Amino acid sequence: MGVRNLNAEFFPLPIDAIQCPDLRFDLYLVHQSGSIVLYRKCGTEYDSGDCEELRSRGITHLYVPNVQHQQFQAALCEHACAAFENPSLSRQERTRIVRDSCSKLIENFMSTKRVEGISDTLGVMASKFGEWCANHKSEFAYLLDMSEHDFYTTTHMVNVGVGCTLLGAEILGADHEMVHELSLGGLIHDLGKFGVPPEVLNKEGKLTDDEWDMIRKHPETGATILKVERGLSPMILDMTLHHHERLDGKGYPEGIKGDDLSLAARICGVVDVYDALTSARPYRGPIPPREVVEMMREDVPHALDAQVFSAWEQVVERMLNEDPDRSFVGSDVEPGCLSMDAMIPSPIAQGVKCETQLMIIRSNGQRIEGTLAESTSCELVVDANATFDTREKVELQGIDGKMKPAQFKCKRLNSQGASQLVFRLAS
Ligand SMILES: [Fe+2]
Repeated sequence: MGVRNLNAEFFPLPIDAIQCPDLRFDLYLVHQSGSIVLYRKCGTEYDSGDCEELRSRGITHLYVPNVQHQQFQAALCEHACAAFENPSLSRQERTRIVRDSCSKLIENFMSTKRVEGISDTLGVMASKFGEWCANHKSEFAYLLDMSEHDFYTTTHMVNVGVGCTLLGAEILGADHEMVHELSLGGLIHDLGKFGVPPEVLNKEGKLTDDEWDMIRKHPETGATILKVERGLSPMILDMTLHHHERLDGKGYPEGIKGDDLSLAARICGVVDVYDALTSARPYRGPIPPREVVEMMREDVPHALDAQVFSAWEQVVERMLNEDPDRSFVGSDVEPGCLSMDAMIPSPIAQGVKCETQLMIIRSNGQRIEGTLAESTSCELVVDANATFDTREKVELQGIDGKMKPAQFKCKRLNSQGASQLVFRLAS
């Protein structure tokens, strides 16, 4: 078979993605000459020794025929389930295998852009999530990565799937039928990001208007592609389409608000924001869980649902109390110094650009010059170099001389790495 058929007929698999005593699919490898040869046939064994041997030869990927896609996915599911229920594995190893397998499953759907069978394959994982949450809650909770971690779309989706399960169980009870839908909805909520180029998703600098448009389309892209898959409930499509909406109508893609925003979308929205903020991004480090919860509190109740947020706060606090080692301590991250990022539809992210001078006046009379960088009806972003306490009250004086009372919210960095101050206007 010629090398030109590789991308059309096979999908790549990292060599350590799976180890099986009884493979359900064929594994191929690519020789230096470019020819594709059968490496292991379905029904034979592939183990860690094979993996090491391939690594020593500089081989990082094997290839599975596209026609064996579903067998591969079923094997990954079984691999994850067996690991979670294997008492001889350490918690760390068990957690790693389940998270990696789920992540690879999602990645497989995203890279092939084919969603046939997603409700069955990831539905099995969602059912297991519900079962594990009901019967082994504290062990299941370890599947939520609360440590210092990078943001990757697929690992984020695993975290949101786990988080939606925990939050759904907290609000509705672990046995509630909605919990399964919440797990599955969380696992696939960002599927539409396959339509956004990685260089845009991971861009360090400020996004252009076109790039923003691309990102803001991912909920609709995901919902559109998932509509054709039988077996997905309206609730899952709703979570995919509406997880970036806000209660005040300033979210996207539809700007729906208030009672029009379902409980499922509110749950997904809270977990999504939490995981996006605890993860490291190319333009900033990760933020520890308790700091993130404090930052999110600023967006309750106008953006985030108060009851859903409160339940999530309890879930996070319980996990940290049970095992304080799960959280990392921010090192070079100044408390409250980073605002909600570009993935989150904060009013600032949608703000109006402007460059007018203004004066920040502290309660002790100290005056600090700044330049207004962005403004919305409730927040101002100011280019200025100064330190404020969180919620410190100030007056902002514009060039017209008018004074506006405001409260310091947080510090953030602009795309050039310069310090910006975010103030919330007093209502
Ligand atoms: Fe999203």
